[in-house]
Amino acid sequence: MWKFWSRHKRKVYVALGVLGSGYLLYKLYDAHRRRLSDLERELAGERENDVLIKAQMQAHFENIQGIADTTTLPHAMVYLSSRVAKELDLLHLTEKLMKGKGQPNNLTSLEKLALWDELKILSFTRMVLSLWAMTLLSLYIRVQVNILGRHLYIDTARGLGSSHLLDEADLIGRNDQQQFLASADFLSDHGMTNLISNMHAAATEVLKGKQLRDFFNTTILHETIVQILDKLMSKGSPHRWLDYLMPEDARFYKFVTSSSSGNSDLSDITKFDQLMIETRAVLSSAEFGDVVDLSLKTVVDLLVEDIKVQCEGNLLSGMPLAKLLPRVAQINPLLLEEPSKNRYIQIIRNIPEVELFFTLLYSNTPTL
Ligand SMILES: *[C@@H]1O[C@H](CO)[C@@H](O)[C@H](O)[C@H]1NC(C)=O
Ligand SMILES: *[C@@H]1O[C@H](CO)[C@@H](O)[C@H](O)[C@H]1NC(C)=O
Repeated sequence: MWKFWSRHKRKVYVALGVLGSGYLLYKLYDAHRRRLSDLERELAGERENDVLIKAQMQAHFENIQGIADTTTLPHAMVYLSSRVAKELDLLHLTEKLMKGKGQPNNLTSLEKLALWDELKILSFTRMVLSLWAMTLLSLYIRVQVNILGRHLYIDTARGLGSSHLLDEADLIGRNDQQQFLASADFLSDHGMTNLISNMHAAATEVLKGKQLRDFFNTTILHETIVQILDKLMSKGSPHRWLDYLMPEDARFYKFVTSSSSGNSDLSDITKFDQLMIETRAVLSSAEFGDVVDLSLKTVVDLLVEDIKVQCEGNLLSGMPLAKLLPRVAQINPLLLEEPSKNRYIQIIRNIPEVELFFTLLYSNTPTL
């Protein structure tokens, strides 16, 4: 990118310099008049070209955001939703409890209590996990698509802007693009097991002091969710949570996923690796950390608001935790709804700071 712009900048500066001296010459020699107007026209052409490139990039940028919302994300969300439903099924618990309800001697009160306790922890585990995974997956895919989009734009711009033939090895192959976009399913495929076990541990710790008869209001519900999220995010080394989202070593992942398709092109591995390394660098940045914090916070606020509406005002004055659990279970599908219907994804996208982050990500090349 830098090379591309600097080439154009230099042209503009050279033109400006010639224009300056040309102006003096014009005063002395009328014959230079024609030359000057040529230069002016050339300069105007450069400017137009600049404006055109900016407009093109803007249109391309908007296109890219659309691609994230309409192609990659819907597939990844459907898959995530099915994985969560499968891995965190509460039905067996509620069924057991229902069976025990009519027959007092069927379940001992100790068994019942244990089942309720499990239901309490699993309900929160599933809700906070869905919230976290939806938020991070939508951000991850947007990072990916913007990185890829920028690379493709630069490839195109370089191809158009220079008379040199481009080295094939410099361009991102179709295979790498697909491989790269497919890595969005890493969370559902590989990260899920660890995410569930760590989320479960966090929920267990936060909820251990909370009894089923304890009263929950919006403040307490909000605090509980935030505490579980904080526990998850602060577990292990600072960017431990990244490992739920993407492979630590891209090459290993690539090997695992492509060995089945029998594809192992060495130059492909390099380009794919580069994209993954760049993604990891962006995800590890402090700026992305801020975007994650802000997005999670915004989603938690909206979620508590939605649960409050579902509880028809009972949550304002407070209601027993046992009564809140079915509401917590009900809200889950909304969190994992497909992007076009998902208010949480839409609200994340419209946070001004998040928009700015992706605008900068698209237009800047991180130094690597
Ligand atoms: C409770 O009832 C179910 C059927 O409703 C039965 O399968 C189960 O064995 C019973 N459990 C005990 C502890 O009696
Ligand atoms: C919820 O309950 C806590 C403790 O009982 C109280 O401090 C807080 O103000 C309540 N929040 C609302 C919104 O009523």
